[in-house]
Amino acid sequence: MKTKYWSAEQTQLGIEEAAAALAAGGVIAFPTETVYGLGGDARSTEAVKRIFEAKGRPSDNPLIVHLARSEDVGELATEVSEIEKALMDAFWPGPLTLVLPVRAGAVSPLVTAGLDTVAVRVPEHELARELIGRSGCPVAAPSANRSGRPSPTQARHVLEDLDGRIDGVLDGGATGVGLESTVVRVLDGRIHILRPGGVTKEQLLEAVGGTADIASSKVPENERGNEQAPRSPGVKYAHYAPKGEMLIVTGVPDKLPAVVQAKADEAAGEGRRVAVLCCSEHVDRYKAVAVFDCGPRRAPEQAAHSLYAFLRECDERGLDYIVAEGYPEDGIGAALMNRLRKAAAGREISAG
Ligand code: TXA
Ligand code: MG
Repeated sequence: MKTKYWSAEQTQLGIEEAAAALAAGGVIAFPTETVYGLGGDARSTEAVKRIFEAKGRPSDNPLIVHLARSEDVGELATEVSEIEKALMDAFWPGPLTLVLPVRAGAVSPLVTAGLDTVAVRVPEHELARELIGRSGCPVAAPSANRSGRPSPTQARHVLEDLDGRIDGVLDGGATGVGLESTVVRVLDGRIHILRPGGVTKEQLLEAVGGTADIASSKVPENERGNEQAPRSPGVKYAHYAPKGEMLIVTGVPDKLPAVVQAKADEAAGEGRRVAVLCCSEHVDRYKAVAVFDCGPRRAPEQAAHSLYAFLRECDERGLDYIVAEGYPEDGIGAALMNRLRKAAAGREISAG
């Protein structure tokens, strides 16, 4: 299959052709403010099948359905609580996904992987909203990467993974947030964060102004133990992994460079090609094949923005040992550390 590419200069033509392709059951990659998505008509089992096939995604991991307008949420969900309404008002359009009771027949059963809920979000990116609006479809869209690879934050990342496997890609330049949306489920007046992301815990709390709190557990209590239908199926898969081995070093900033460099030297001594991911303040402290500047320590949003592109570059350049400095876990730092930990498959040490 030939994958059509619409450059950022051809946006209008691109949106028209891509929207027509979606409406006809095609699968199209497009930018959102978080990462690029691979979209298809959520009502079409054929289109949704093609999404799973192109990604090599396990069929028990459900997809997020994207809408152009918040007002249309009732077409997908049977019920929206006051707390959910407050979250939609505060964050849609934007990087928040809500898991809601699904309206029977609203989407192909493949989208929800047989669950009785559907994940919904209204993206903020203009191109995404225009595309979805014009297509006239609710658009099922996982991140536009092959399963197990870092999510794409640029159109060329999409092509690296999916060229020849999808109908087209709309280039909208690099995405802003760089990490996926926050996925939440509201149950019994509590907000369960199923996946940390672009909207922070602090922002969620502020938006509900004391009418709800955040549950500490990732899986809602009364839904645990149901092995056939875990409520956040995605979390059991090792996502976002680079090909090389990765290690996270946490601790107070001043103590990081000595420990990170020692680990880098050890690996280099074993003949590995080492990359270091660090804050701007420390870039001059490291000697390695590649040192990636993730931005100032106080601006974790910059690290979030570039993390996936750096991980892909490590793969491309054959960097097979990656040492990453840890970041504070408030604000977007929570999502950043979550993704770093997945990429490192739990390898983490403290510098003290
Ligand atoms: O930012 C994003 O969310 C991007 C862009 C393209 O919108 N999309 C994205 O999709 O990250 P994906 O498929 O890579 O991740 C969707 C996550 C998975 O962890 C999945 O398990 C979870 O949402 N999910 C989907 N439907 C669900 C449901 N009904 N209940 C619980 N979790 C669900
Ligand atoms: Mg994904």
